[in-house]
Amino acid sequence: MSKLIGSKKATQFTESVIREMTRLNQLHGGVNLSQGFPDFAAPAVVKEAACAAIMADVNQYAVTWGTRSLRDAVAQQFTRRYGVPVIADEQVTVCCGATEAMMATMMAIIDPGDEVVIFEPFYENYGPDAILSGATPRYVALREPDWSFDPQELAAAFSNRTRAIILNTPNNPTGKVFTRDELGVIADLCRKWDAVAISDEIYEHIVYDGVRHVPIARLEGMAERTVTINSLSKTYSVTGWRVGWAIAPASLTGAIRKVHDFLTVGAAAPLQEAGVTALGLDESYYTELARGYQRRRDMLLEILERHHFTCYVPDGAYYIMTDIAGFGYRDDVAFARYLVKEVGVAAVPGSSFYIHAELGRTKLRFCFCKRDETLVEADRRLALLRPARTLA
Ligand SMILES: Cc1ncc(COP(=O)(O)O)c(C=O)c1O
Repeated sequence: MSKLIGSKKATQFTESVIREMTRLNQLHGGVNLSQGFPDFAAPAVVKEAACAAIMADVNQYAVTWGTRSLRDAVAQQFTRRYGVPVIADEQVTVCCGATEAMMATMMAIIDPGDEVVIFEPFYENYGPDAILSGATPRYVALREPDWSFDPQELAAAFSNRTRAIILNTPNNPTGKVFTRDELGVIADLCRKWDAVAISDEIYEHIVYDGVRHVPIARLEGMAERTVTINSLSKTYSVTGWRVGWAIAPASLTGAIRKVHDFLTVGAAAPLQEAGVTALGLDESYYTELARGYQRRRDMLLEILERHHFTCYVPDGAYYIMTDIAGFGYRDDVAFARYLVKEVGVAAVPGSSFYIHAELGRTKLRFCFCKRDETLVEADRRLALLRPARTLA
């Protein structure tokens, strides 16, 4: 057999469906409500800080695990906001986005055959992350309409083979924000089985209707067994900058830093400087961010419901998961292709968030990190939407 083919690992997963939808959308000139990146401007002071850093010649490699100033800012913000002490020198690793922080963490702590618990539906990177790190995933369902999990099902997924659980709150794609009680159930299991919680909190500041985000590291005995992952991408609308970080106990940080070093050497030095400015923005920035997203959420909910989608109202993050059973299409992928080609709106087929694809066959995810004009244009195009049976 030819050796000019991908590795066994690389053939176990397909290209990202979300990014495929973005490409299809470009081809058909559609409105992109698939991939979660804002189409509005990042804060001016943050952009100015990046330009200033480049002009000041902060253009060479930064310290591999991140500039001291950004690590300090990350540690101080987490401690101030959540009362969890973080020592920048021992616990913070700056990476190329939350994506790399997650991959570096998994490669650093997982041995082949270790089990990792993953809630399903999940952010699509976690599947390939598990394969690339050699983990054996154990999936536990989050069930609509409120995306709650069955504590017994979760308990049954843990054993002494469990190395870690991946958590994402506020959650992509469901918009679920895990409650303190739910986190308590997860924390009990992590302590019982000596497992690590890897918590992706990239939508930390994007929460609605007075719902509060609780980091699992805040729960008793959890700071010493939690890796909290975050990034500049969503909070400051700079998804293309690729600056994120992991906050980990000192016992895991050395391994994460080594893997990170050999994967990427480091994140862009001038953008790390700008990250310090970003993290220094005052509280009103975060309040405004959440308020702006809540308004966009309500706008897209109204549009989608008027066009006959069944919507699961999100408490956080910037996505709306919908049910499309009423439109009568064969499945979610056929519907998503129809939507982008014939209607001109791109969304993500629900099955791409599930390992048990059948659970996503009547679902479609839309994002609302977009300008009002973009959402209004999507509304105009959705008027073309027809149930499958009326098509010739
Ligand atoms: C849950 C979640 N984690 C991580 C990422 C990627 O983050 P980053 O841009 O920092 O790599 C995304 C992007 O959509 C996401 O939704």
